[in-house]
Amino acid sequence: MRNIVVTGGAGFIGSNFVHYVVKTQPDVFVTVLDKLTYAGNERNIDGLPKDRYKLVVGDICDAKLVDNLLDNADAVVHYAAESHNDNSLNDPSPFVQTNLIGTYTLIEAARKKGVRFHHISTDEVYGDLPLRDVDGNGESFTDTTPYNPSSPYSSTKAGSDLLVRAWVRSFGLKATISNCSNNYGPYQHIEKFIPRQITNLISGIRPKLYGSGENVRDWIHTNDHSSAVWKILEEGRIGETYLIGADGEKNNKEVIKLLLKLFGKSPDDFDLVVDRPGHDLRYAIDSSKLRTELGWTPEFTDFEKGIEETINWYKGNKDWWKPQKAEVEAKYALSGQ
Ligand code: NAD
Ligand code: DAU
Repeated sequence: MRNIVVTGGAGFIGSNFVHYVVKTQPDVFVTVLDKLTYAGNERNIDGLPKDRYKLVVGDICDAKLVDNLLDNADAVVHYAAESHNDNSLNDPSPFVQTNLIGTYTLIEAARKKGVRFHHISTDEVYGDLPLRDVDGNGESFTDTTPYNPSSPYSSTKAGSDLLVRAWVRSFGLKATISNCSNNYGPYQHIEKFIPRQITNLISGIRPKLYGSGENVRDWIHTNDHSSAVWKILEEGRIGETYLIGADGEKNNKEVIKLLLKLFGKSPDDFDLVVDRPGHDLRYAIDSSKLRTELGWTPEFTDFEKGIEETINWYKGNKDWWKPQKAEVEAKYALSGQ
């Protein structure tokens, strides 16, 4: 693979993937297609060598633009999406447009031009799981778990997965799908849980925990997501779905208490706020297929160390997030969060 198109490559996970590819794949040129919505930021990639990537600012729903870009592409890695559950509850419309119509536009172009396609999806398509029992036993999602999404965000992601599956079967699209758990790391928008609390603490605002904080997320460092996606792109079997996760289950209260500890604050120095409607209780990934079939393993498994590094990134890049902080918090205040 010499030329890849990365949609959403100026967002959080997409930009980390672009950094990963530039660092580890010296022969690959990356074309980033990104609309630069509120969640995209050119600065996420502009420090990279100019001969290794270019940014095309545009919409994945623009069929003509997508067709042209795919003329010279060996593969598309499709990250672009509206990605935040809370926003999808306030206004589902851009989620339907980008996640469904955008994915449709890309796979139509990819199948016509015979371009390899990798679709980035989420564990949220499977709905949620009960909490683990007192002995720590509990189910995890696998690639055969039935789809059961809860929110406008996750249902449009589920729909996009189904489009890709149908295009593989009916049109021979050369596609793979990955469903990953919650990512953390640098460049994550401050509307999301971990960066919101980190930037709250830096700004002297108490962290905000939805509901009672018992909801569990299965955290993975975004660099591990990138290495898994590259592995699937190169070695994954066409038509297959691979679940990506690093055995990082934590409930939200534990995460807040860890952040408070790392900031030298008292463990109870947070506010309980209004819960998210339809809030998924627990996610957990069984990534054994990816590990045994493709030999992938995560590297960044020390959560506390990863969080410390992430805190340092936000401390060192205040000019990246500060201009948005007041607006993000004002929006949350409207919903009592
Ligand atoms: P993000 O919101 O940080 O970034 C999304 C990017 O897509 C932004 O750069 C934005 O400008 C771009 N974009 C949005 N609409 C577009 C359009 N119509 N055309 C072109 N570009 C557009 O999202 P993220 O958290 O980095 O998530 C990236 C992908 O990974 C998404 O598909 C998401 O569903 C998936 N995912 C995210 C997580 C997570 O923990 N954040 C976990 C699993 C899967
Ligand atoms: O599981 C993968 C998904 O993870 C991705 O598909 C999504 O794109 C990504 O946004 C993320 O979804 P979540 O809804 O799990 O992430 P979020 O960061 O919004 O919230 C994580 C948990 O923290 C969730 O249980 C809600 C809670 N939360 C969130 C915020 C913003 C709080 O308790 N307080 C907050 O201020």
